[in-house]
Amino acid sequence: MHSLINKQILLGITGGIAAYKSAELCRLLVKAGAEVRVVMTASACEFITPLTMQALSGNRVHIELLDEEAEAAMGHIELARWADLVLVAPASANFIARLTHGEASDLLTTVCLAATAPLALAPAMNQAMWSNQNTQDNMSALKQKGLHIFGPADGEQACGDIGLGRMLEPSELALLAAGLFQNGAFAGLKVCITAGPTREAIDPVRYISNHSSGKMGYALAQAALEAGAQVSLISGPVNLPPPPHAYLVNVESAEQMLNAVTKEPCDIFIAVAAVADYRPQQIASNKIKKTRESIQLELVKNPDILATIAAQKPKPFCVGFAAETENLKRNALAKLTNKNIDLVIANHATNTFNNDEASVNAYWHKGEKVLTPDRKEKVARELILLIKDLM
Ligand code: C5P
Repeated sequence: MHSLINKQILLGITGGIAAYKSAELCRLLVKAGAEVRVVMTASACEFITPLTMQALSGNRVHIELLDEEAEAAMGHIELARWADLVLVAPASANFIARLTHGEASDLLTTVCLAATAPLALAPAMNQAMWSNQNTQDNMSALKQKGLHIFGPADGEQACGDIGLGRMLEPSELALLAAGLFQNGAFAGLKVCITAGPTREAIDPVRYISNHSSGKMGYALAQAALEAGAQVSLISGPVNLPPPPHAYLVNVESAEQMLNAVTKEPCDIFIAVAAVADYRPQQIASNKIKKTRESIQLELVKNPDILATIAAQKPKPFCVGFAAETENLKRNALAKLTNKNIDLVIANHATNTFNNDEASVNAYWHKGEKVLTPDRKEKVARELILLIKDLM
C-alpha cells in the first residue's frame, strides 16, 4: 500500500447500495497516504451523504457540474487534471453505460472524459443486470479502451440474489489501486539517488547552502521504489518525510555525500542534489566574530559526485540534473559529455527550487524529450519510465 503515498485519487461514487462501502474505501486510501477527492452522482447521494465523504476525505465533495461556487474553487477540468487515478466505486450499470458512450451528462462522466489519468471501475449491481448482454458489451468496450476493472465479486447480494455483481471489499479495492502505481520497470535493480542541498560549514554556526527543497529527488526515490527498485537515498538537510522502504542516509556536506554515495554500489545513479560547488577552505573552530569591517572567505572546489561515479568502471547508468538560468539545451548537452553521463534532465533554475511542479527537458546522446509540465511526483514517474527505455 506504500505506493499510495502522495497519490491524488479521485473517488467517484455512483448510485447503488454498495455506496456505503465507499466510506470505508475512502478511509483506507487516506490512511495509506493518498489524498482523496470525492465526486458523487445525484443518485449516490441517496445512498450515502456527501457530509460523510467530506469528513472522511477531508475535502469538499463535488456533486454538480454546473455549480458556480465549486467551479470557482476547483473546476471540473482542473479536478480531472488533478487526479493520478480516477476510481469509481461502486460503478452502477447506468454509469457504466453512460461512460461507454462517452457521455458528459453529469460531473462524474465529464471528469472521466477529461481525465488523462488511469481510470478504474468497481462494478456493483444485481447479478442479472451484470450478466445482461448490454452490460457485458459495455464492459468489453471499456476493457478494450484500457480501463481497469476491479471485480465484481460473486456471492449474496443486497437484493437477496446470489451471483456475480457484488462490489469487491474496500480492502481489496485499496490493494488493487495501490497495485496500479507499481510497475516492474526497475525490478531487481539497485538505485542510488542524491537529493536536497549540501551545507558547507564556515564555522560551528554558519554555512553556505542553496534553496534546494529535495522534492524532486524524494519523488524519484518514491517512483523508483514503485518500479520495484532497491533505493538508497543520500539526502542533504530537507524537510520531507523519507519514502518508506528507501534506505536513507542523511548527510550535510558534499564530501559526506560523496563518501555515502561511494558506499552504495548501484545499477542506476541519479544525482538530483544541488551540491555546493565550493566549500570554505577552512572551517573556523570557533564562531567568527564581527570585529573587522570586511573578511575574506577562501573557497575551494568540491568534488563532483556525479562525475566521480560516472568515471567508475563499470559505471552505473548515470543521470544528472541541470538547473540553468540560460542556454538550457547547450549547457545540458555539455554536462552530458563533460561528466560522461547517460541522461541529463534540464530545467530553469528560476522556477525549480521549492516548487511542487516541474517543467523539464530530457537530453541523451541520441535524442531528447520535452516532458509535460506537471507535479514532481508525476514527472518522476515519467522519468523512471524514460530511464528504463534508455537502458
Ligand atoms: O556541474 P553542475 O553542478 O551544473 O551539475 C549538476 C549535476 O551534477 C546535478 O546532477 C548534480 O547533482 C551533480 N553534481 C554533483 N556533484 C557536484 C556538483 C554537481 O553530483 N559537486
